[in-house]
Amino acid sequence: MRKTVIAGNWKMNKNLSEAAELVNGLKAELAGKTLNVGVIVCPPYVNIESVAKLAEGTEIKVGAQNMYFEESGAYTGEISADMLKSVGAEYVILGHSERRTIFGENDEVINKKMKKALEAGLKPIFCIGETLEEREGGTMKEVIAKQVKGGLSGISEQELSEIIVAYEPVWAIGTGVTASPDQAQEVHAYIRGMLKEMYSEVAADNMTIQYGGSVKPGNAKELLGMPDIDGALVGGACLKADSFAGIITAV
Ligand code: PGA
Repeated sequence: MRKTVIAGNWKMNKNLSEAAELVNGLKAELAGKTLNVGVIVCPPYVNIESVAKLAEGTEIKVGAQNMYFEESGAYTGEISADMLKSVGAEYVILGHSERRTIFGENDEVINKKMKKALEAGLKPIFCIGETLEEREGGTMKEVIAKQVKGGLSGISEQELSEIIVAYEPVWAIGTGVTASPDQAQEVHAYIRGMLKEMYSEVAADNMTIQYGGSVKPGNAKELLGMPDIDGALVGGACLKADSFAGIITAV
């Protein structure tokens, strides 16, 4: 059976001391609780090592928010998959809509990053999602299909089992507007159906598909109660230990 996973995307927030405060706060919030969900925090690159050390021996796993697809070399400012692994990251968010829109990443680049992450033993959290214009213009499913096929191109069924998919409608990210449980469920079921066609029924059934976009303690339970929603990728609400813990314990 597929696992429910709650991941926090810190984005460009928290310096070293603030990062320690947040992860220690989360540890305190979760102490003594039996969790039936996986928990991942994704701090900025520079705080991965310290957060991973503080999270050692707890159920909290650590991920990065991006990486580059080359092994090493003259790529000023970039970070490799191997570097991330060496400081304690187990996951990496790839294809986030902010990377796609602000930094111009396309499906091809994201696919190269997916392959490199898998090769290095990092588990990708692969993000996809449509804009409001695409939804209202009726091309939502085409857009999602293109992102799924592009991002997963050349990836085997065995590799797929290391991936978490995150459906994040762009119009719901950081806006306070959440997709309704029915709206999210429709797209999640569509994605799972695509995975079934591209791979197999078993692969599709086992895939964790997170929802992301203004998830809060108050709406997490309802969203995660839908049959094809297996977790959440949380932005704003993961920056405070009590609200992130509130989402984790709501499910
Ligand atoms: P949000 O961000 O929870 O602040 O909407 C989600 C995300 O971008 O992953």
